[in-house]
Amino acid sequence: MEVSKDILNYDEQIILELRTLYNEFGYSQYRMSRFEEYELYAENKAFLPSGEILAFTGINGRLMALRPDVTLSIVKYAKDDGKTEKLYYNENVYRSDGADFKEQMQVGLECIGNIDTPLIGEVLLLAKQSLDILSDKSKLDISHMGFPGGLLQSEKMTLEQRNTLINCINNKNTPELKTLCLEYGLSNEFEQRLTKLASLYGFYEDVKDQLKELCINDEMTSALNDLDALDKVLRKTGINKNIKIDFSIINDISYYSGIIFQGYIEGVPARVLSGGRYDELLQKFGKKSGAIGFAVYLNNAEFFETAQPEEKDNYINIALPKGRLGEKAYAIFEAAGYGCPEIREESRKLVFENQKLGIRYFWVKPSDVARYVERGAACIGVAGKDILQEQSPDIYELLDLKIGKCNISVAAEKEFSPEKSNKTLRVATKFPNITRAYYQKQGREIDIIELNGSIELAPLLGLSDVIVDIVETGQTLLANNLEPKELILDVSARLISNKASYKFNYEKIDKICESIKSAADN
Ligand code: PRP
Repeated sequence: MEVSKDILNYDEQIILELRTLYNEFGYSQYRMSRFEEYELYAENKAFLPSGEILAFTGINGRLMALRPDVTLSIVKYAKDDGKTEKLYYNENVYRSDGADFKEQMQVGLECIGNIDTPLIGEVLLLAKQSLDILSDKSKLDISHMGFPGGLLQSEKMTLEQRNTLINCINNKNTPELKTLCLEYGLSNEFEQRLTKLASLYGFYEDVKDQLKELCINDEMTSALNDLDALDKVLRKTGINKNIKIDFSIINDISYYSGIIFQGYIEGVPARVLSGGRYDELLQKFGKKSGAIGFAVYLNNAEFFETAQPEEKDNYINIALPKGRLGEKAYAIFEAAGYGCPEIREESRKLVFENQKLGIRYFWVKPSDVARYVERGAACIGVAGKDILQEQSPDIYELLDLKIGKCNISVAAEKEFSPEKSNKTLRVATKFPNITRAYYQKQGREIDIIELNGSIELAPLLGLSDVIVDIVETGQTLLANNLEPKELILDVSARLISNKASYKFNYEKIDKICESIKSAADN
Protein backbone atom coordinates (compact mmCIF):
# COMPACT_ATOMS: atom_id res chain seq x y z
CA MET A 1 0.00 0.00 0.00
CA GLU A 2 1.41 3.40 -1.01
CA VAL A 3 1.06 6.02 1.74
CA SER A 4 0.48 9.54 0.49
CA LYS A 5 2.82 11.92 2.33
CA ASP A 6 0.10 14.60 2.25
CA ILE A 7 -1.97 12.86 4.89
CA LEU A 8 0.93 12.59 7.34
CA ASN A 9 1.45 15.12 10.13
CA TYR A 10 4.79 16.89 10.29
CA ASP A 11 6.21 14.52 12.95
CA GLU A 12 4.92 11.47 11.06
CA GLN A 13 6.69 12.69 7.92
CA ILE A 14 9.92 13.06 9.87
CA ILE A 15 9.56 9.58 11.32
CA LEU A 16 8.90 8.12 7.87
CA GLU A 17 11.98 9.81 6.42
CA LEU A 18 14.17 8.69 9.34
CA ARG A 19 12.94 5.11 9.08
CA THR A 20 13.52 5.09 5.32
CA LEU A 21 17.08 6.34 5.89
CA TYR A 22 17.88 3.68 8.48
CA ASN A 23 16.32 0.95 6.32
CA GLU A 24 18.51 2.00 3.41
CA PHE A 25 21.59 1.47 5.58
CA GLY A 26 20.47 -2.05 6.51
CA TYR A 27 19.04 -1.35 9.98
CA SER A 28 15.98 -3.36 10.96
CA GLN A 29 13.16 -2.18 13.18
CA TYR A 30 13.13 -3.25 16.82
CA ARG A 31 9.75 -3.29 18.53
CA MET A 32 9.12 -3.65 22.21
CA SER A 33 6.51 -3.39 24.89
CA ARG A 34 5.81 -0.14 26.70
CA PHE A 35 6.26 -1.99 29.99
CA GLU A 36 9.44 -3.40 31.43
CA GLU A 37 10.50 -4.70 34.81
CA TYR A 38 11.19 -1.81 37.19
CA GLU A 39 14.39 -3.45 38.37
CA LEU A 40 16.09 -2.89 35.00
CA TYR A 41 15.87 0.88 35.46
CA ALA A 42 16.36 0.95 39.22
CA GLU A 43 19.70 -0.86 38.76
CA ASN A 44 20.82 1.49 35.99
CA LYS A 45 19.49 4.85 37.16
CA ALA A 46 22.70 6.68 36.26
CA PHE A 47 22.20 5.66 32.61
CA LEU A 48 18.84 7.45 32.50
CA PRO A 49 18.48 11.19 31.90
CA SER A 50 16.39 11.54 35.06
CA GLY A 51 16.22 9.28 38.09
CA GLU A 52 12.41 9.25 38.32
CA ILE A 53 10.64 6.17 37.01
CA LEU A 54 6.89 5.77 36.48
CA ALA A 55 6.24 2.45 38.24
CA PHE A 56 3.18 0.27 38.85
CA THR A 57 2.43 -3.19 40.18
CA GLY A 58 1.59 -5.83 37.57
CA ILE A 59 -1.23 -8.39 38.02
CA ASN A 60 1.24 -10.97 39.30
CA GLY A 61 2.55 -8.53 41.91
CA ARG A 62 5.76 -7.72 40.06
CA LEU A 63 6.89 -4.11 40.07
CA MET A 64 6.78 -2.80 36.50
CA ALA A 65 7.70 0.51 34.84
CA LEU A 66 6.54 2.52 31.89
CA ARG A 67 9.73 2.50 29.84
CA PRO A 68 11.84 5.68 30.44
CA ASP A 69 14.47 4.50 27.96
CA VAL A 70 14.75 2.17 24.98
CA THR A 71 18.47 1.34 24.94
CA LEU A 72 18.41 -0.59 28.23
CA SER A 73 15.76 -3.00 26.89
CA ILE A 74 17.66 -3.51 23.63
CA VAL A 75 20.85 -4.26 25.57
CA LYS A 76 19.04 -6.59 27.96
CA TYR A 77 17.78 -8.74 25.08
CA ALA A 78 20.83 -8.36 22.78
CA LYS A 79 22.02 -11.69 21.39
CA ASP A 80 25.75 -11.17 22.02
CA ASP A 81 26.59 -13.95 19.55
CA GLY A 82 29.58 -12.28 17.90
CA LYS A 83 27.49 -10.91 15.01
CA THR A 84 26.80 -7.18 14.71
CA GLU A 85 23.12 -6.28 15.09
CA LYS A 86 21.97 -3.03 13.45
CA LEU A 87 18.63 -1.90 14.82
CA TYR A 88 16.41 1.14 14.80
CA TYR A 89 13.32 1.94 16.82
CA ASN A 90 10.45 4.39 16.89
CA GLU A 91 9.03 4.29 20.40
CA ASN A 92 7.67 6.59 23.08
CA VAL A 93 9.45 6.93 26.41
CA TYR A 94 8.09 8.21 29.73
CA ARG A 95 10.34 10.66 31.54
CA SER A 96 10.16 13.29 34.19
CA ASP A 97 11.13 16.85 33.26
CA GLY A 98 11.45 17.75 36.94
CA ALA A 99 7.87 19.02 37.20
CA ASP A 100 5.94 16.04 35.80
CA PHE A 101 6.12 12.87 33.71
CA LYS A 102 5.99 13.42 29.97
CA GLU A 103 5.51 11.05 27.07
CA GLN A 104 8.29 11.67 24.55
CA MET A 105 8.60 10.43 21.03
CA GLN A 106 11.97 8.96 20.09
CA VAL A 107 13.48 7.52 16.96
CA GLY A 108 16.92 6.04 17.32
CA LEU A 109 19.32 3.39 16.29
CA GLU A 110 21.72 1.01 18.00
CA CYS A 111 24.61 -1.14 16.73
CA ILE A 112 25.58 -3.99 19.02
CA GLY A 113 28.55 -6.27 18.27
CA ASN A 114 31.93 -5.47 16.82
CA ILE A 115 32.14 -1.67 16.75
CA ASP A 116 35.01 -0.55 14.51
CA THR A 117 35.91 2.91 13.24
CA PRO A 118 34.05 2.61 9.88
CA LEU A 119 30.89 1.64 11.78
CA ILE A 120 31.27 4.62 14.15
CA GLY A 121 31.68 6.75 11.02
CA GLU A 122 28.47 5.29 9.60
CA VAL A 123 26.56 6.03 12.83
CA LEU A 124 27.82 9.63 12.80
CA LEU A 125 26.86 9.97 9.15
CA LEU A 126 23.37 8.72 9.98
CA ALA A 127 23.21 11.12 12.94
CA LYS A 128 24.11 14.02 10.64
CA GLN A 129 21.64 12.90 7.98
CA SER A 130 18.94 12.55 10.67
CA LEU A 131 19.57 16.18 11.67
CA ASP A 132 19.40 17.20 7.99
CA ILE A 133 15.94 15.66 7.83
CA LEU A 134 14.86 17.88 10.75
CA SER A 135 16.40 21.12 9.48
CA ASP A 136 18.85 22.48 6.94
CA LYS A 137 20.70 24.25 9.77
CA SER A 138 22.12 21.76 12.20
CA LYS A 139 25.23 21.09 14.26
CA LEU A 140 26.71 17.79 15.29
CA ASP A 141 29.46 17.91 17.93
CA ILE A 142 31.53 15.05 19.23
CA SER A 143 33.60 14.28 22.28
CA HIS A 144 35.65 11.32 23.45
CA MET A 145 35.18 10.11 27.01
CA GLY A 146 38.89 9.19 27.13
CA PHE A 147 39.84 12.87 27.33
CA PRO A 148 37.96 13.94 30.46
CA GLY A 149 38.24 10.38 31.84
CA GLY A 150 42.02 10.24 31.41
CA LEU A 151 42.59 13.75 32.72
CA LEU A 152 40.40 13.31 35.81
CA GLN A 153 42.25 10.09 36.60
CA SER A 154 45.58 11.87 36.71
CA GLU A 155 44.96 13.51 40.11
CA LYS A 156 43.67 12.16 43.40
CA MET A 157 40.15 13.27 44.30
CA THR A 158 36.98 11.90 45.85
CA LEU A 159 34.11 10.63 43.72
CA GLU A 160 32.01 13.60 44.80
CA GLN A 161 34.72 16.05 43.77
CA ARG A 162 35.10 14.29 40.43
CA ASN A 163 31.37 14.50 39.78
CA THR A 164 31.34 18.20 40.67
CA LEU A 165 34.17 18.81 38.19
CA ILE A 166 32.31 16.80 35.50
CA ASN A 167 29.26 18.95 36.07
CA CYS A 168 31.34 22.09 35.55
CA ILE A 169 32.92 20.67 32.34
CA ASN A 170 29.38 20.00 31.10
CA ASN A 171 28.54 23.69 31.59
CA LYS A 172 31.89 24.98 30.29
CA ASN A 173 32.13 26.57 33.70
CA THR A 174 35.79 27.54 33.69
CA PRO A 175 35.52 30.11 36.53
CA GLU A 176 34.15 27.41 38.86
CA LEU A 177 36.70 24.82 37.68
CA LYS A 178 39.48 27.20 38.70
CA THR A 179 37.96 27.78 42.14
CA LEU A 180 37.31 24.08 42.73
CA CYS A 181 40.82 22.96 41.68
CA LEU A 182 42.22 25.38 44.22
CA GLU A 183 39.77 24.20 46.89
CA TYR A 184 40.51 20.50 46.19
CA GLY A 185 44.30 21.09 46.24
CA LEU A 186 44.74 20.01 42.59
CA SER A 187 47.82 21.11 40.67
CA ASN A 188 47.96 24.30 38.67
CA GLU A 189 48.91 22.35 35.57
CA PHE A 190 45.87 20.07 35.97
CA GLU A 191 43.60 23.11 36.38
CA GLN A 192 44.95 24.65 33.17
CA ARG A 193 44.40 21.43 31.22
CA LEU A 194 40.93 21.00 32.63
CA THR A 195 39.79 24.56 31.78
CA LYS A 196 41.30 24.20 28.29
CA LEU A 197 39.43 20.91 27.82
CA ALA A 198 36.11 22.42 28.94
CA SER A 199 36.33 25.52 26.75
CA LEU A 200 37.81 23.94 23.60
CA TYR A 201 35.47 24.05 20.58
CA GLY A 202 36.42 23.60 16.93
CA PHE A 203 36.95 21.33 13.93
CA TYR A 204 39.28 18.40 14.54
CA GLU A 205 41.93 19.63 12.12
CA ASP A 206 41.95 23.06 13.80
CA VAL A 207 42.23 21.76 17.38
CA LYS A 208 44.36 18.65 16.72
CA ASP A 209 47.57 20.26 17.97
CA GLN A 210 45.89 21.54 21.13
CA LEU A 211 44.56 18.03 21.76
CA LYS A 212 48.06 16.60 21.47
CA GLU A 213 49.28 19.05 24.09
CA LEU A 214 46.46 18.05 26.42
CA CYS A 215 47.40 14.34 26.42
CA ILE A 216 49.21 13.27 29.56
CA ASN A 217 48.51 9.53 29.77
CA ASP A 218 47.77 6.44 27.71
CA GLU A 219 44.00 6.85 28.02
CA MET A 220 44.13 10.32 26.52
CA THR A 221 46.62 9.31 23.80
CA SER A 222 44.44 6.37 22.85
CA ALA A 223 41.41 8.73 22.69
CA LEU A 224 43.37 11.03 20.38
CA ASN A 225 44.27 8.05 18.15
CA ASP A 226 40.56 7.13 18.01
CA LEU A 227 39.64 10.68 16.98
CA ASP A 228 42.39 10.71 14.38
CA ALA A 229 41.25 7.40 12.86
CA LEU A 230 37.64 8.59 12.91
CA ASP A 231 38.59 11.86 11.21
CA LYS A 232 40.07 9.87 8.32
CA VAL A 233 36.79 7.94 7.94
CA LEU A 234 34.66 11.09 8.22
CA ARG A 235 36.73 12.84 5.55
CA LYS A 236 35.66 10.21 3.01
CA THR A 237 32.01 11.27 3.37
CA GLY A 238 32.84 14.96 3.84
CA ILE A 239 30.95 15.22 7.15
CA ASN A 240 34.17 16.13 8.97
CA LYS A 241 33.34 19.68 7.77
CA ASN A 242 30.14 19.57 9.83
CA ILE A 243 31.43 18.09 13.07
CA LYS A 244 33.18 19.99 15.84
CA ILE A 245 34.99 18.72 18.90
CA ASP A 246 33.37 19.73 22.20
CA PHE A 247 34.45 18.01 25.42
CA SER A 248 31.67 19.65 27.41
CA ILE A 249 29.56 16.81 25.98
CA ILE A 250 30.10 14.36 28.79
CA ASN A 251 28.11 11.31 29.85
CA ASP A 252 28.25 8.97 32.82
CA ILE A 253 31.74 7.46 32.86
CA SER A 254 30.49 4.14 34.26
CA TYR A 255 28.37 3.51 31.12
CA TYR A 256 30.00 5.39 28.28
CA SER A 257 33.43 5.03 26.74
CA GLY A 258 34.84 6.31 23.47
CA ILE A 259 33.01 8.65 21.13
CA ILE A 260 29.90 10.48 22.32
CA PHE A 261 27.98 13.13 20.41
CA GLN A 262 25.06 15.59 20.41
CA GLY A 263 23.05 17.29 17.70
CA TYR A 264 21.31 20.66 17.62
CA ILE A 265 19.14 22.41 15.06
CA GLU A 266 18.80 26.16 14.77
CA GLY A 267 15.80 27.63 16.56
CA VAL A 268 15.40 24.75 19.03
CA PRO A 269 16.97 25.64 22.40
CA ALA A 270 17.89 22.14 23.59
CA ARG A 271 19.69 19.26 21.94
CA VAL A 272 17.59 17.13 19.61
CA LEU A 273 19.97 14.20 19.23
CA SER A 274 22.24 12.45 21.65
CA GLY A 275 24.34 9.33 21.37
CA GLY A 276 27.61 7.56 21.91
CA ARG A 277 29.50 4.41 22.55
CA TYR A 278 28.38 2.52 25.64
CA ASP A 279 30.40 -0.71 25.84
CA GLU A 280 30.43 -0.47 29.65
CA LEU A 281 26.66 -0.92 29.78
CA LEU A 282 26.97 -4.20 27.85
CA GLN A 283 29.64 -5.34 30.31
CA LYS A 284 27.28 -4.66 33.21
CA PHE A 285 24.90 -7.14 31.58
CA GLY A 286 27.74 -9.67 31.28
CA LYS A 287 27.90 -9.25 27.49
CA LYS A 288 31.08 -9.08 25.46
CA SER A 289 29.80 -6.98 22.56
CA GLY A 290 30.49 -3.30 22.06
CA ALA A 291 27.68 -0.84 21.33
CA ILE A 292 27.00 2.55 19.83
CA GLY A 293 23.74 4.34 19.12
CA PHE A 294 21.77 7.54 19.25
CA ALA A 295 18.27 8.85 19.81
CA VAL A 296 16.49 11.69 18.05
CA TYR A 297 14.09 13.49 20.40
CA LEU A 298 10.92 14.25 18.54
CA ASN A 299 8.95 15.74 21.43
CA ASN A 300 9.81 19.14 19.98
CA ALA A 301 8.57 18.23 16.49
CA GLU A 302 6.14 21.17 16.37
CA PHE A 303 9.02 23.33 17.45
CA PHE A 304 11.09 22.15 14.46
CA GLU A 305 8.25 23.00 12.16
CA THR A 306 8.02 26.55 13.45
CA ALA A 307 11.77 27.04 13.85
CA GLN A 308 12.40 28.73 10.53
CA PRO A 309 15.98 29.90 10.50
CA GLU A 310 15.51 32.06 7.40
CA GLU A 311 13.01 34.22 9.28
CA LYS A 312 15.22 34.60 12.35
CA ASP A 313 17.10 37.86 12.64
CA ASN A 314 20.76 37.54 13.42
CA TYR A 315 20.66 39.55 16.62
CA ILE A 316 22.37 38.33 19.75
CA ASN A 317 19.69 38.60 22.43
CA ILE A 318 21.06 39.48 25.85
CA ALA A 319 19.01 39.13 29.07
CA LEU A 320 20.09 41.53 31.81
CA PRO A 321 18.76 41.45 35.39
CA LYS A 322 16.61 44.49 36.13
CA GLY A 323 18.02 46.69 38.88
CA ARG A 324 21.41 47.61 40.25
CA LEU A 325 23.18 44.44 39.16
CA GLY A 326 21.87 44.83 35.61
CA GLU A 327 23.10 48.41 35.44
CA LYS A 328 26.58 47.31 36.53
CA ALA A 329 26.48 44.45 34.01
CA TYR A 330 25.39 46.79 31.22
CA ALA A 331 28.29 49.14 32.07
CA ILE A 332 30.69 46.24 31.42
CA PHE A 333 29.03 45.45 28.07
CA GLU A 334 29.23 49.15 27.16
CA ALA A 335 32.91 49.34 28.12
CA ALA A 336 33.49 46.23 26.02
CA GLY A 337 32.12 48.02 22.95
CA TYR A 338 28.55 46.70 23.07
CA GLY A 339 26.73 49.87 24.09
CA CYS A 340 23.13 50.69 23.32
CA PRO A 341 22.67 54.36 24.42
CA GLU A 342 18.85 54.18 24.48
CA ILE A 343 19.05 51.83 27.47
CA ARG A 344 20.22 54.67 29.71
CA GLU A 345 17.22 56.87 28.89
CA GLU A 346 14.51 57.12 31.52
CA SER A 347 11.65 54.93 30.25
CA ARG A 348 9.61 51.84 30.99
CA LYS A 349 10.81 50.05 27.86
CA LEU A 350 12.17 46.54 28.35
CA VAL A 351 13.77 45.87 24.95
CA PHE A 352 16.64 47.86 23.41
CA GLU A 353 18.44 47.29 20.13
CA ASN A 354 21.70 48.35 18.61
CA GLN A 355 21.11 47.60 14.95
CA LYS A 356 24.70 48.31 13.92
CA LEU A 357 26.15 45.83 16.40
CA GLY A 358 23.33 43.32 15.95
CA ILE A 359 22.59 43.09 19.67
CA ARG A 360 19.36 43.35 21.62
CA TYR A 361 19.09 43.77 25.40
CA PHE A 362 16.09 42.75 27.55
CA TRP A 363 15.54 43.77 31.17
CA VAL A 364 14.14 40.73 32.99
CA LYS A 365 13.53 39.87 36.63
CA PRO A 366 16.91 38.72 38.06
CA SER A 367 15.58 35.31 39.03
CA ASP A 368 14.22 34.77 35.48
CA VAL A 369 17.42 35.41 33.50
CA ALA A 370 18.55 31.76 33.57
CA ARG A 371 15.14 30.59 32.30
CA TYR A 372 15.20 33.01 29.35
CA VAL A 373 18.66 31.76 28.44
CA GLU A 374 17.97 28.06 29.01
CA ARG A 375 14.85 28.23 26.81
CA GLY A 376 16.68 30.16 24.10
CA ALA A 377 14.65 33.41 24.32
CA ALA A 378 18.02 35.02 25.05
CA CYS A 379 21.34 33.77 23.62
CA ILE A 380 23.34 35.07 26.57
CA GLY A 381 22.57 36.74 29.89
CA VAL A 382 23.87 37.84 33.25
CA ALA A 383 22.72 35.88 36.29
CA GLY A 384 23.83 35.68 39.93
CA LYS A 385 25.53 32.49 41.07
CA ASP A 386 22.78 32.17 43.71
CA ILE A 387 20.13 31.80 40.99
CA LEU A 388 22.27 29.40 38.95
CA GLN A 389 22.94 27.22 41.99
CA GLU A 390 19.26 27.24 42.95
CA GLN A 391 17.80 26.55 39.50
CA SER A 392 20.59 24.37 37.96
CA PRO A 393 19.69 25.46 34.43
CA ASP A 394 21.16 23.57 31.47
CA ILE A 395 23.35 26.43 30.17
CA TYR A 396 27.01 27.30 29.73
CA GLU A 397 28.51 29.41 32.50
CA LEU A 398 31.23 31.28 30.64
CA LEU A 399 32.60 34.11 32.80
CA ASP A 400 32.70 35.39 36.34
CA LEU A 401 31.96 39.11 35.92
CA LYS A 402 33.16 39.76 39.50
CA ILE A 403 30.26 42.13 40.17
CA GLY A 404 27.27 41.71 42.49
CA LYS A 405 29.51 40.06 45.06
CA CYS A 406 27.69 38.77 48.13
CA ASN A 407 27.12 35.41 49.78
CA ILE A 408 24.40 33.03 50.87
CA SER A 409 24.57 32.40 54.59
CA VAL A 410 22.65 30.84 57.43
CA ALA A 411 21.64 33.62 59.81
CA ALA A 412 19.74 33.69 63.07
CA GLU A 413 19.13 35.82 66.16
CA LYS A 414 22.38 36.45 68.01
CA GLU A 415 21.44 34.28 70.96
CA PHE A 416 20.39 31.26 68.82
CA SER A 417 23.01 28.57 68.10
CA PRO A 418 21.77 26.25 65.33
CA GLU A 419 24.40 23.61 66.20
CA LYS A 420 23.23 23.42 69.83
CA SER A 421 19.59 22.80 68.97
CA ASN A 422 18.82 19.16 68.19
CA LYS A 423 15.22 19.75 67.11
CA THR A 424 14.16 19.80 63.46
CA LEU A 425 15.51 23.13 62.30
CA ARG A 426 12.91 25.48 60.78
CA VAL A 427 14.58 27.35 57.91
CA ALA A 428 12.99 30.27 56.06
CA THR A 429 14.42 30.92 52.61
CA LYS A 430 13.83 31.76 48.97
CA PHE A 431 16.54 29.19 48.08
CA PRO A 432 14.93 25.80 48.93
CA ASN A 433 17.26 23.72 46.73
CA ILE A 434 20.47 25.27 48.03
CA THR A 435 19.14 24.93 51.59
CA ARG A 436 18.12 21.28 51.15
CA ALA A 437 21.49 20.35 49.63
CA TYR A 438 23.40 22.15 52.39
CA TYR A 439 21.61 20.44 55.29
CA GLN A 440 21.50 17.07 53.52
CA LYS A 441 25.30 17.11 53.47
CA GLN A 442 25.25 17.70 57.22
CA GLY A 443 22.65 14.97 57.72
CA ARG A 444 20.47 17.50 59.53
CA GLU A 445 16.69 17.31 59.50
CA ILE A 446 15.03 20.57 58.49
CA ASP A 447 11.63 22.05 57.76
CA ILE A 448 11.86 24.50 54.86
CA ILE A 449 9.54 27.52 54.91
CA GLU A 450 9.63 29.01 51.43
CA LEU A 451 9.24 32.80 51.32
CA ASN A 452 9.67 35.33 48.51
CA GLY A 453 11.23 38.30 50.32
CA SER A 454 11.88 40.07 53.62
CA ILE A 455 13.19 36.72 54.86
CA GLU A 456 14.74 38.44 57.91
CA LEU A 457 11.27 38.81 59.40
CA ALA A 458 10.80 35.04 59.84
CA PRO A 459 12.96 34.46 62.99
CA LEU A 460 11.76 37.75 64.51
CA LEU A 461 8.14 36.59 64.33
CA GLY A 462 8.95 33.03 65.42
CA LEU A 463 8.14 31.63 61.96
CA SER A 464 11.59 30.01 61.68
CA ASP A 465 14.71 29.31 63.75
CA VAL A 466 17.14 30.43 61.06
CA ILE A 467 17.14 31.93 57.58
CA VAL A 468 19.20 31.06 54.50
CA ASP A 469 19.55 34.28 52.56
CA ILE A 470 21.74 36.70 50.66
CA VAL A 471 24.12 38.79 52.74
CA GLU A 472 25.77 41.68 50.98
CA THR A 473 26.77 44.42 53.42
CA GLY A 474 25.21 42.68 56.43
CA GLN A 475 23.20 45.84 57.22
CA THR A 476 19.78 44.16 56.93
CA LEU A 477 20.80 41.42 59.37
CA LEU A 478 22.29 43.93 61.80
CA ALA A 479 19.24 46.19 61.70
CA ASN A 480 17.05 43.21 62.60
CA ASN A 481 19.14 41.82 65.46
CA LEU A 482 20.31 38.86 63.33
CA GLU A 483 23.83 37.69 62.55
CA PRO A 484 25.42 35.34 60.00
CA LYS A 485 26.18 31.91 61.49
CA GLU A 486 27.46 29.78 58.58
CA LEU A 487 28.64 30.66 55.07
CA ILE A 488 27.10 28.49 52.36
CA LEU A 489 28.13 30.01 49.04
CA ASP A 490 30.07 32.96 47.65
CA VAL A 491 28.05 34.70 44.97
CA SER A 492 28.92 36.90 42.00
CA ALA A 493 27.35 37.60 38.60
CA ARG A 494 28.11 35.20 35.74
CA LEU A 495 27.87 35.50 31.98
CA ILE A 496 25.79 32.55 30.78
CA SER A 497 24.86 31.23 27.35
CA ASN A 498 22.20 29.01 25.84
CA LYS A 499 23.93 25.81 24.66
CA ALA A 500 22.40 25.75 21.17
CA SER A 501 22.86 29.51 20.60
CA TYR A 502 26.50 29.16 21.62
CA LYS A 503 27.04 26.64 18.86
CA PHE A 504 25.16 28.53 16.15
CA ASN A 505 26.68 31.93 17.08
CA TYR A 506 30.06 30.73 18.30
CA GLU A 507 32.21 33.41 16.63
CA LYS A 508 30.00 36.28 17.85
CA ILE A 509 29.56 34.95 21.40
CA ASP A 510 33.24 34.08 21.73
CA LYS A 511 34.14 37.63 20.62
CA ILE A 512 31.69 39.18 23.11
CA CYS A 513 33.15 36.95 25.83
CA GLU A 514 36.72 37.98 25.09
CA SER A 515 35.83 41.71 25.09
CA ILE A 516 33.72 41.37 28.25
CA LYS A 517 36.53 39.48 29.97
CA SER A 518 39.00 42.30 29.47
CA ALA A 519 36.37 44.94 30.35
CA ALA A 520 35.42 43.05 33.55
CA ASP A 521 39.08 42.64 34.56
CA ASN A 522 39.65 46.41 34.32
C1 PRP B 1 18.49 40.98 49.74
C2 PRP B 1 18.54 39.91 50.80
C3 PRP B 1 18.67 40.66 52.06
C4 PRP B 1 19.44 41.89 51.65
C5 PRP B 1 20.88 41.75 52.07
O1 PRP B 1 17.18 41.45 49.73
O2 PRP B 1 17.39 39.06 50.73
O3 PRP B 1 17.40 41.01 52.57
O4 PRP B 1 19.39 41.98 50.23
O5 PRP B 1 21.62 42.90 51.79
P1 PRP B 1 22.59 43.56 52.89
O6 PRP B 1 23.42 42.47 53.49
O7 PRP B 1 23.42 44.55 52.10
O8 PRP B 1 21.72 44.22 53.89
P2 PRP B 1 16.52 42.16 48.49
O9 PRP B 1 16.94 43.60 48.46
O10 PRP B 1 16.81 41.41 47.24
O11 PRP B 1 14.98 42.09 48.84
P3 PRP B 1 14.07 40.92 49.44
O12 PRP B 1 14.14 41.03 50.92
O13 PRP B 1 12.73 41.24 48.92
O14 PRP B 1 14.59 39.61 48.96
